[in-house]
Amino acid sequence: MRRSTLQCLLFVVSLGMIAPAAFAKVTETDFGKTKDGVEAKVFEVTNKNGMKVRLMNRGATLIGVDVPDRDGKLADVVFGFDDIAGYESKANSYFGCTTGRYANRIAKGKFTLDGKEYKLFTNDGPNHLHGGNGESLDKVVWDGMPFDKDGVSGVEFTYTSPDGQEGYPGKQEMRVTFTLNDKNELKIDYSAKSDKPTVLNLTNHAYFNLGGAGSPTINDHVLKLNADKYTPVDDTLITTGELAPVEGTPLDFRTPTAIGKRVDQLTKTSALGYDHNFVLNRDGAAEGELVEAAKLVDPKSGRTLTVITDQPGIQFYGGNFLTGNKGKGGKPYAYRSACALETQVFPDSPNKQGVEGWTDCVLRPGDEYTHTCVYAFGVEK
Ligand code: GLA
Repeated sequence: MRRSTLQCLLFVVSLGMIAPAAFAKVTETDFGKTKDGVEAKVFEVTNKNGMKVRLMNRGATLIGVDVPDRDGKLADVVFGFDDIAGYESKANSYFGCTTGRYANRIAKGKFTLDGKEYKLFTNDGPNHLHGGNGESLDKVVWDGMPFDKDGVSGVEFTYTSPDGQEGYPGKQEMRVTFTLNDKNELKIDYSAKSDKPTVLNLTNHAYFNLGGAGSPTINDHVLKLNADKYTPVDDTLITTGELAPVEGTPLDFRTPTAIGKRVDQLTKTSALGYDHNFVLNRDGAAEGELVEAAKLVDPKSGRTLTVITDQPGIQFYGGNFLTGNKGKGGKPYAYRSACALETQVFPDSPNKQGVEGWTDCVLRPGDEYTHTCVYAFGVEK
């Protein structure tokens, strides 16, 4: 049964119980049909501050985040499209999707696990990127189940990826839960189980511009990254296996720095700008413990985004492949006008098992993959 926002509010008022939880609500609307004729749905979650998060079942995708600036004015700060056709078009560079099964790159589209070689689609030059071709997790339709309990609201998406989908071994049961609380924190919890040994790396690929999606640049945003090291890449953007210090490079964001200040020093490298995985300082934090990974500040609007995670790495991508294609409201998404902050294990981990300091990405039957990422929004005066 669907209820309108007004109906929900009247219901709550009639009970005379305006508690914070009473404002938390989820509405569901149709978003048209995919090319395959499947119903796309959008769930909108609102908290007591009026912050809104919109989620779509195709790709378990974050399609809108309306957050206040320092004067309380809301703007939608993530890239996306107004209709399903936009999401299915070539202009969609993984905007807001759940990315996988293996987010980021796998060298030459292959890996060996327990002595067996697996071949994947090569969709990024010689390499495999973001889970492959037509059935990567961003392109399939997930089941979405809204919830509203204990003062928080959200949507739980589930999807079963069959054995061999996109070349990955094992039937995988996956769950991605988005939860919005009244502190303007959006929490994403991932979990997965597999019936065969497999590799995986799930993340969210939202593009942020805290001035509002479609603002002309991300170079004026100030970024802090809690990382002493990063993972250098070769000519095809495959990690070399080194963990190199950020010290003395344009990748040193340990002190908050404007993104545009040094980006041109990287324009002629293979990364074309910022497109690197950072090794997060976990400072003795236990496995599963959340630490602050990044903080992005838009000095103009005052909006801030803090990224908190239990993952070992974060890919900071500065929008080098954006070319001005039009998104929501017909606004152009220009070169370097947004950034993605993707929490994850290190790129190409399937081919780096056993390399010192590298991350484990193997999921075995009976074990559970879990990953939490919090996007906490705020304002600075
Ligand atoms: C990631 C990669 C980038 C690029 C984008 C999608 O973040 O690191 O190189 O492929 O996805 O355009």
